[in-house]
Amino acid sequence: MTNGNGNHRGFWKTRLGFVLAAAGSAVGLGSVWKFPYITGQNGGGAFVLLYLACALGVGIPIMLAEFTIGRKTNLNPVGALQTLRPGSWWVVIGYMGVLAGLLILSYYCVVGGWTVAYIVKSLNHSLDRFANPREAGGYFASFIADPLEMIFYHAVFMALTVAVVFKGVHGGIEKACDVMMPGLAVILCVLMVRSLTLPGAMEGVKFYLYPDFGKITAKSVLMAMGQAFFTLSLGMGAMITYGSYLSEKENLTSSTVYVVGFTLLISLLAGLVIFPAVSFAKLEPTEGPSLVFSVLPIVFSRMPLPTLVSTVFFVLLLIAALTSSISLLEVVAAYFIDQLKWKRKKAVSVMGAVIFLLGIPSALSFGVMKDARFMGMTFFEFVDNLAANYLLPLGGALTAIFVGWVWGTKEAQKEVERHETQFHFVEIWAFLIRFVAPVAVAAIFLAKLF
Ligand code: PFF
Repeated sequence: MTNGNGNHRGFWKTRLGFVLAAAGSAVGLGSVWKFPYITGQNGGGAFVLLYLACALGVGIPIMLAEFTIGRKTNLNPVGALQTLRPGSWWVVIGYMGVLAGLLILSYYCVVGGWTVAYIVKSLNHSLDRFANPREAGGYFASFIADPLEMIFYHAVFMALTVAVVFKGVHGGIEKACDVMMPGLAVILCVLMVRSLTLPGAMEGVKFYLYPDFGKITAKSVLMAMGQAFFTLSLGMGAMITYGSYLSEKENLTSSTVYVVGFTLLISLLAGLVIFPAVSFAKLEPTEGPSLVFSVLPIVFSRMPLPTLVSTVFFVLLLIAALTSSISLLEVVAAYFIDQLKWKRKKAVSVMGAVIFLLGIPSALSFGVMKDARFMGMTFFEFVDNLAANYLLPLGGALTAIFVGWVWGTKEAQKEVERHETQFHFVEIWAFLIRFVAPVAVAAIFLAKLF
């Protein structure tokens, strides 16, 4: 299909296809793996509230802004900003997005690899022989310390991502999301019921839902904001790119609300699975990146048909991770395809290989490189912190300033209303995008600094 800019791009087939794909990008390891572990590290309930405030007050307006830029221009983020303000430096938002995509994908594939490995380990019954909860944690720790297994599964996950993006985002994604989304919601509900009925579960629920603001530091506020950008795939142009494949008939405002609503639902459910099981097993919620993988086998082993349940769960999580990783690679690839005129296959395979190599130190960060420090963090933590807590919020704040003050909320409103009769709540949105989003990001950065 050819768009107004004269280049060939596919479009989502159906309205639902677009919402599902955008939700597919948002829902992933960020909700199921990262949200529980950073909530655990940052004191529980109060962190959850901060995260929700950032997602609703800053995430929703920026997502709508990204969709609007994408649909207006039908271009990748770099091309989109060049088109809207030719010759200006705003295009830097696009370049920062490509860089953030590259960095995030490099360690995302490592964790994606863990899910592939846990499918294999479920099927060969390695996960259902633990005598006590501590053994499950120990098993995971020795798995992620093994350099060969880590690099192997990292490569497998990257290969899967490359294979899908090779074909372009449309073919596989819409279908994969059709099955994954409801599937993931259902299995998380089932696991939640099991977790909540374990002895001692209520202590975990209390930790998760009862806010203790005494535990909040400038660092946790920064992480809550970073997590809002990370889970909603904002601040690096992924939603500009997905919006660029959108035909004119979509309702952007309601699509935004569906995507954010579904992502928050999955995140909150994941917490309700993990924390009751943490207190049941008398584990520490502060355990870090291994939390979810150490705790889940405990839940599975107390259910009927544990092998089946854990296999289905990790397959769904793998699909969720893939529908996110393809959006990360797509942002990087779309830049090389649209701007540098590379062929899709070349862009995807070359960048896939580069990102795989960049991810190797992250893959080794739990074993041979676990004592190497980069500004006091492991390589894995360093890249995650740089991309999720700094690059994404910065990219998001610049997008908000661009739309709010440079391109203008009136122009954005026109685009939103191109097919919608009316953009309800436009004043509230304009206020959030012009003032709240940039000021919140700046204030949080400053608070962290001093
Ligand atoms: N939102 C994804 C997740 O939570 O797993 C990660 C992600 C995808 C972040 C795409 C940023 C992005 F552009």
